[in-house]
Amino acid sequence: MKKFKVAVVGAGAVGVQMVRILKQRNFPMEELRILARSSRTMEIDGTKYQVRETTPDAFDGVEIALFAGTEGEKGAAAQFAAEAVKRGAVVIDNGSEFRMDPAVPLVIPEINGDALKNHKGIIANPNCTAAVMLMGLAPLHKAFRVKRAVISSYQAVSGAGAKGIDGLRKQTEAALKGEKITDLSGFPNPIAFNILANNWAIEEQGYSNEEWKMMKETHKILGDDSIELAVTTVRVPTFVGHGESVWIETEKPVTPEAAREIFVKSPGVLVVDEKTPLNGVTCPMPTLAEGRDESLVGRIRPDLYKKNALLFWVVGDNLRKGAALNAVQIAEHLILKGWVKPSA
Ligand SMILES: NC(=O)c1ccc[n+]([C@@H]2O[C@H](COP(=O)([O-])OP(=O)(O)OC[C@H]3O[C@@H](n4cnc5c(N)ncnc54)[C@H](OP(=O)(O)O)[C@@H]3O)[C@@H](O)[C@H]2O)c1
Repeated sequence: MKKFKVAVVGAGAVGVQMVRILKQRNFPMEELRILARSSRTMEIDGTKYQVRETTPDAFDGVEIALFAGTEGEKGAAAQFAAEAVKRGAVVIDNGSEFRMDPAVPLVIPEINGDALKNHKGIIANPNCTAAVMLMGLAPLHKAFRVKRAVISSYQAVSGAGAKGIDGLRKQTEAALKGEKITDLSGFPNPIAFNILANNWAIEEQGYSNEEWKMMKETHKILGDDSIELAVTTVRVPTFVGHGESVWIETEKPVTPEAAREIFVKSPGVLVVDEKTPLNGVTCPMPTLAEGRDESLVGRIRPDLYKKNALLFWVVGDNLRKGAALNAVQIAEHLILKGWVKPSA
């Protein structure tokens, strides 16, 4: 089997997971280059890696480049994605820069893997909250056609990167000592012992940019702009694992039993309930989802007042299915289909 020259760009919360997952899944690698803003050595799961500074030349010879650098003008993708493609690599980017570009496929392999076929060199990985939620919503949409969904998220601090993880730890220690929290670590208010529905910049019509990402990315990935979505995104003081409460109304008749059957058959989904507990636990929770590949679904129940409507609760590891794992799965799908090189 052919082995590939792979680059991981970014050595933060997601980049570290990428390196770990490439190793765990025995990804066919001839070489692994880890790039970040500065060079240094770094230890991941007992193995020492050399991290190199990201420059255009660092992509010479790279065939698959997994980007997990920060977003924005000075972010890795804005500065180096085009350079990597120019040098022959396919770029799979975790940031939001390219997601809504009509020429860039936005992909969750279990849902719309075929969208990868005609990529032009850059592929986008969805927002972590959208990815976890869609693992539950997409199979139900396929089976029953979702007309409307109301979603509220409970997002872990690692969604804000290594700084968010460090921030929660330090703030919790300070709060337990009775000290005033002065370092907000990028959050708008203290996150320790708190809940922030104002974590993201507010944009049009009072929706946050995270809520807009959820809505626009859901439409693009499902290829259906007609689904009515109402989303509230919230940051909670957990380290890893985004939870989401989802209410749906469907076109075709749906029952909790029928929905459960669909979930059980869906790759990448694990039902956690009284019938099929996980580690003795009967409800999905962040600490249960952390380190796992599946999105955990439970609390499936009917809307008592509306026909063809139900609720479920889904939790997934935001650093894995929400980011690094999905990116690696995209690369695996490209290899499987022979689509690593862009279509002409
Ligand atoms: N965390 C999540 O749950 C999640 C989920 C989905 C998507 N994402 C996206 O994934 C990306 C990475 O997130 P993260 O949570 O891993 O962030 P992070 O912990 O803050 O790490 C960011 C990494 O990017 C590197 N970097 C920043 N600018 C760069 C540049 N211009 N060139 C090269 N490297 C650069 C940094 O290098 P240094 O270490 O040298 O500073 C750092 O290693 C972001 O776009 C984020 O939006 C994150």
